[in-house]
Amino acid sequence: MARKIMLTGACSQLGRIMEALLKVQPDTEVVVLRREELDILDDVAVMAAVEKIKPAVIINCAGFNDVAAAESRLATKLPVNARGFCNLAKAAKEFRVYLCTFSSKFVFDGKKEQPYLEDDDLWPINQYGSSKHGGEEMVSNLLENYLIVRSDLLYGGGDDFVSRIQRELKAGNQVKVSDDFFVAPTYLGDLAAATVALVYEWAVGVYHYTNDAGNGINCYEFAQAVAELSDLDSSLLQTVPVLETEFGYPMAMPKRAILSIERFRELFPSLVRPWREALAAYLGR
Ligand SMILES: NC(=O)c1ccc[n+]([C@@H]2O[C@H](COP(=O)([O-])OP(=O)(O)OC[C@H]3O[C@@H](n4cnc5c(N)ncnc54)[C@H](OP(=O)(O)O)[C@@H]3O)[C@@H](O)[C@H]2O)c1
Repeated sequence: MARKIMLTGACSQLGRIMEALLKVQPDTEVVVLRREELDILDDVAVMAAVEKIKPAVIINCAGFNDVAAAESRLATKLPVNARGFCNLAKAAKEFRVYLCTFSSKFVFDGKKEQPYLEDDDLWPINQYGSSKHGGEEMVSNLLENYLIVRSDLLYGGGDDFVSRIQRELKAGNQVKVSDDFFVAPTYLGDLAAATVALVYEWAVGVYHYTNDAGNGINCYEFAQAVAELSDLDSSLLQTVPVLETEFGYPMAMPKRAILSIERFRELFPSLVRPWREALAAYLGR
């Protein structure tokens, strides 16, 4: 019998890539739910959908990721990260479904010198991180059969860091990028493939997945690589502190929260690759 997977938040960058990948997996039936088909903040609708669809697996790609906007009291979509995850976890518990959902390095404070392990203490320092922490707690407290995949700066889905740098440099504009905020930039296609591998192994608990950037690179280094691999003029990149980039106002940022990917690497070494190799492949170089 085919493995039935319910994909929520399917309109997200990750959801679109995940849908395409799941649809070519053998013995798999995918039920794709975009926000208009299932709002995961609607607990009754979530319970009803899981009861009707009877999936073996839920993969949730819905979330709210605007770190700066999350600081505003007007960020009405932020509850999706905790309450939305809670609704899915309750339905997964009720109908004994394996739940996979995504979290972020922002659950950490960024003060550790080395990459964070999955079991390190969570200490979010801004609203976005707190919302992700809340979501993780809901899932791990309610369920035994769950997978949380934490990741870092994603690109490859359309409007992202890579496309912004390319667009501005092509237009001949100066671009402010930070040299004090460290990332492990990650190609969405690699994250989707890593997640599928974990889900098909029924991996349980928390896993980190990013492209391999060692102990992190700063955003300026990443932007420079984008420029070089796109044959664009990197001299238009201007280094500034992170809060002077698109964030624009004072908020706490975990400046070096890099995720250790060793737990994942042990299981699937062939699905780990260096960040620059992933970027070059994405840019067709
Ligand atoms: N992007 C990153 O750099 C990054 C890094 C680490 C982890 N992650 C995590 O990876 C996951 C996917 O991220 P992404 O960048 O692909 O997301 P995204 O492109 O920003 O899309 C988020 C999606 O969630 C949907 N959504 C929001 N509230 C919803 C609700 N109540 N019910 C159903 N759908 C809802 C949104 O729909 P509308 O557009 O209609 O609002 C949107 O389609 C998220 O959990 C995110 O936190 C992302």
